[in-house]
Amino acid sequence: MKVLILAAGLGKRMKSKYPKVIHKILGKPMINWVIDTARVFGKVGVVLGYKAEEVKKFLPDDIEIYIQEEQLGTGHAVLCAKEFIDENENLLILYGDVPFISQVTLKKLEQEHLKMNNEVTILTAILENPAGYGRIVKEGNKIRIVEDKDATSEIKEIKEINTGIYIFNGKFIKKNLDNLNNKNAQGEYYLTDVVSFAEKVSTVITEDIFEVTGINDKVQLAKLEKEMRKRINEKLMLEGVRIIDPEVVYIEPNVKIGKDTIIYPFTFIEGETEIGEDCEIGPMTRIKDSKIGNNVKINRSEIEKTIIEDNVSVGPFSRLREGTHLKNKVKIGNFVETKKTLVGENTKAQHLTYLGDATIGKDVNIGAGTITCNYDGKKKHPTTIEDGAFIGSNNSLVAPVKIGKNAITGAGSVITNDVPDDSLALGRARQINKEGWVKNKREEK
Ligand code: UD1
Ligand code: CA
Repeated sequence: MKVLILAAGLGKRMKSKYPKVIHKILGKPMINWVIDTARVFGKVGVVLGYKAEEVKKFLPDDIEIYIQEEQLGTGHAVLCAKEFIDENENLLILYGDVPFISQVTLKKLEQEHLKMNNEVTILTAILENPAGYGRIVKEGNKIRIVEDKDATSEIKEIKEINTGIYIFNGKFIKKNLDNLNNKNAQGEYYLTDVVSFAEKVSTVITEDIFEVTGINDKVQLAKLEKEMRKRINEKLMLEGVRIIDPEVVYIEPNVKIGKDTIIYPFTFIEGETEIGEDCEIGPMTRIKDSKIGNNVKINRSEIEKTIIEDNVSVGPFSRLREGTHLKNKVKIGNFVETKKTLVGENTKAQHLTYLGDATIGKDVNIGAGTITCNYDGKKKHPTTIEDGAFIGSNNSLVAPVKIGKNAITGAGSVITNDVPDDSLALGRARQINKEGWVKNKREEK
């Protein structure tokens, strides 16, 4: 089956300078939620209109794009993609602003369509308050969809509504698109009118209204996103993840988390992040696009594009930036920033430190206040610290520089030259004591 996503509409009520369908929901543009669901069923086409160029930037390469210059109605939108329709294949219609339609529901729709050998199968819902939606009018074997604005008071009583999602027989829709007119209350070419031409038509009623709800403004956007977040968190909890308070934990759809890991409140886990088992994450932590092993503790920290192996502890108040790799049993403490840095097994950097473009061996101790001076104003330079080295407190390691195996640097040193293995380096002025100096000054007065 082919899938056509209609997304030409303006989205006026979003009150935005950006097209509606590129607004992100849990990190993913609205239209990409639909595309990710759609592509399971077959080739995907999208009808764009308003600011099409901006929407295109978010679409995967294998999507066929059709342009509807003027938004003359849903029927007209499909007509703009007429060459996409294959007479020998069914056509599923979805909407760019109905992001949470599920594969399970669409599978049911497809099953009904195939079983009944239909020309069209409509996904419908029963609503207590159906105002605004097209109503499903069943007359014998035939079905008519009447738009709210065209409905008589009698038809307005009907509670079965058109979700706007259908499967059409390719040949049927291709033939009947040309029969549409715009003689209705809105002066639009209604896709719904094609339904009335069908001899073989039925509906599938969905119970889950959330899945078929469209997003029109930013209030709905927040509400639906909240519901999606709840569902993501519930799925993880049912898989064995402990989330202390799921109302205040924000986990994006592609995140994977292992059993018995605990997620504390006010934690954001984003992008393509994977977290192992028995970890403690949060509170107040943000992790993005990172891979984290088992039994890792991360408290009040920011982590991005980082690899963390097992038994590591991070935070509070650490910032691990892109290209950080922490090996087994590393300890990164408060106010430590890392970037493009490999930290070897069992190494500790516990306080007030910046490690950038550094390669650090195992069993190293990085003293409080150590800074790798990796930037000379033009270029970045590497720092290497070998196994067992001990960097004294408040050191500046001026890169490029290498500290050898088991070497020690004195507290307060500015290290500008390589330090050989097993050596002590002191890079600071020697202390002078002037005895009695203060007393002499006092007595002078
Ligand atoms: C449509 C259905 C209605 C159904 C409702 C469900 C028709 C005539 N009516 O209503 O029966 O209950 O959806 O939400 O189809 N779009 C275009 N080009 C256009 C017009 C619309 O691409 O010219 C796209 C919009 O971007 C949107 C979708 O189609 O994603 C639906 O359009 P919208 O105006 O919200 O739906 P209605 O026509 O009101
Ligand atoms: Ca409309």
